[in-house]
Amino acid sequence: MNNLLDVPTEALLTRRRLQPRLEALWESTGADEVIVEEFETRLDEVWPRLFRLLLELYGDRYDFFYHLEQILQTAAQSWVERPDDLKKLDRHRIYEEDWFRSEKMVGGALYVDLFSENLGKLRQSISYFKDLGLSYLHLMPLFAVRPGDNDGGYAISNYRSVDPRLGTIDDLRDLGRDLRESGISLVLDFVFNHTSDDHEWAQKAQGGDPEFQQYYYIYPDRTMPDQYERTLREIFPTVRRGNFTWHDGMQQWVWTTFNSYQWDLRYTNPAVFRAMLGEMLFLANTGVDILRLDAVAFIWKKMGTSCENLPEAHTVIQAYNALARLAAPGLLFKSEAIVHPDDVVRYISPEECQISYNPTLMALLWESLATRETKLIRQSLSHRHQLPKHTIWVNYLRCHDDIGWTFDDNDAAQVGINGFDHRQFLNQFYTGQFPGSFAHGVPFQHNIDTGDMRISGTMASLAGLEQAMQLDDDRLKDLAIRRIILLHGITLSIGGIPLLYLGEEWGILNDYDFVRDPAKANDTRWIHRPKMRWEYLEEHHEHVTPEDRAIRRRLFNSIQRMIKIRKEVPAVSGLNMELVPLYNQHVLGYSRINDSDRLIVLANFSDYPQSVSGNIVRTAGLGRFFEDQLSNTTYQTSHDLELQPYEVVWLRRV
Ligand code: GLC
Ligand code: GLC
Repeated sequence: MNNLLDVPTEALLTRRRLQPRLEALWESTGADEVIVEEFETRLDEVWPRLFRLLLELYGDRYDFFYHLEQILQTAAQSWVERPDDLKKLDRHRIYEEDWFRSEKMVGGALYVDLFSENLGKLRQSISYFKDLGLSYLHLMPLFAVRPGDNDGGYAISNYRSVDPRLGTIDDLRDLGRDLRESGISLVLDFVFNHTSDDHEWAQKAQGGDPEFQQYYYIYPDRTMPDQYERTLREIFPTVRRGNFTWHDGMQQWVWTTFNSYQWDLRYTNPAVFRAMLGEMLFLANTGVDILRLDAVAFIWKKMGTSCENLPEAHTVIQAYNALARLAAPGLLFKSEAIVHPDDVVRYISPEECQISYNPTLMALLWESLATRETKLIRQSLSHRHQLPKHTIWVNYLRCHDDIGWTFDDNDAAQVGINGFDHRQFLNQFYTGQFPGSFAHGVPFQHNIDTGDMRISGTMASLAGLEQAMQLDDDRLKDLAIRRIILLHGITLSIGGIPLLYLGEEWGILNDYDFVRDPAKANDTRWIHRPKMRWEYLEEHHEHVTPEDRAIRRRLFNSIQRMIKIRKEVPAVSGLNMELVPLYNQHVLGYSRINDSDRLIVLANFSDYPQSVSGNIVRTAGLGRFFEDQLSNTTYQTSHDLELQPYEVVWLRRV
């Protein structure tokens, strides 16, 4: 780079230099005028930022201009190839940029094979999704994977083909179209931190191709790996110690943050950035509305650091975001950063990821259930719920992964809790070892050196339903169901897109049979990835007792009803949320305000009744008469509100 020029001038000059290449591409593809103009208008807008981001990442390379050209061509080519109906949606979304922050958004996630076998059959379930009230559907990774263990689809061997057991790319396109017509957005993973060891790039690297060896972090001996290890965390310590795997064929070490067959990509190499851009935009053009950016924290490595959440990781994602604005402007990013809450929010902005999992809220909801107290969740919510404009949380209770206790230790200290000890307690509680615990979870990735551990288990098993069924105790069953409804009462109202892990709406219990499959036995997360139990939906089924069916129905109906009510309460859109001080440690209270609509939520985390003064609710803005939207009970301020064990109420003015 010419040091005498400033970045904006350099950007402008480079843009001019690139113009003829762009024109050649328009020429060769026969792109029509409108398409060209749309792209170039957006390019003028995005270019100064995109140029700066790429300059930061790759500006010191002698071949920087060559890579810029390749990257821009990939984007332009992909825009030309983008199907017309998606282009139409893009144009629409440019003007409706907050569409995903609406109270109408409700999400579901599923594994295609476990839910309905394959993509063709999944299309028949669209009526089920509509019936439940979903407007967002995340299909767990469904791409071609390595044979044997594939980390639930997260070891991808080809991003452009679907696992043949599930269908074809055309099936995926058809499904996307059907979903769009039903008002349901399609969410797919962008697994860009690593490929499978049998991906074409990895195979070429194994074959000794130097170009592709530069796609990964490959070392002849332990010198570099050992230096890196000094500051690295272990993500899957029970799989293999450390972060590197010895490859017999190459006689070299490979960086593998997760499983040994998941090879981390080397984003310091601009060829990797460009190659994955191609895969990303290919995915976008199949009809994806939201890409879930997998394992964002790990994509950039630097000696002497934890190699998590590095500034360059943000630069890479922002550059991808800018390129998506060019080539698929309706596309949104969702961040999967299951890290410290301070780091989680750094991925969230309109220029990076517009949507993010909310792992802190998830963990603290389970924390509140275990302790029956709300001080830690309140402390955390008091300063962590707000996000930048045009962004939103995804609030979930369970997903395909484990639960990690990622709350902030300072938040804990503020309310007199020792973070380390508290995590030990929570792990004991959720593995059912703590006296009086109702939970049937199991450990995930227990690290014997650090004591660190995460928790696997389905929502129903963690909330006490499994234990209650085993003891055949009606009171305990009732309490377990109330806990599950309580948690949903919060994720559906607190601000963000609620996301259900499908199957949970029927209270499916842990599946202990996963150990029989050698490809799954070493990963306890399979305990909470059971097959959908369609028999619960039937009136009569030989394997479901009437009593069992009644419990499942109660759960499903309650969740379905809450979703329906949520969609009629404008106050729950967006993120505006204020805690209501209640002077009762067992109850969480907050208000949601949107224009003239106002909702107050009270949630009792105790297994005893709790009362809240009506006056508090009045001063929080509801006036003298108000109604619980969930039970249709009306109240007036002269009386105290009596909350039943684990009761949640959604109060609105009448
Ligand atoms: C993400 C996925 C998890 C997977 C990991 C590696 O965290 O959610 O299931 O094991 O990335 O791809
Ligand atoms: C994720 C997280 C980790 C999680 C794992 C999947 O990227 O960082 O906490 O447990 O991968 O299991």
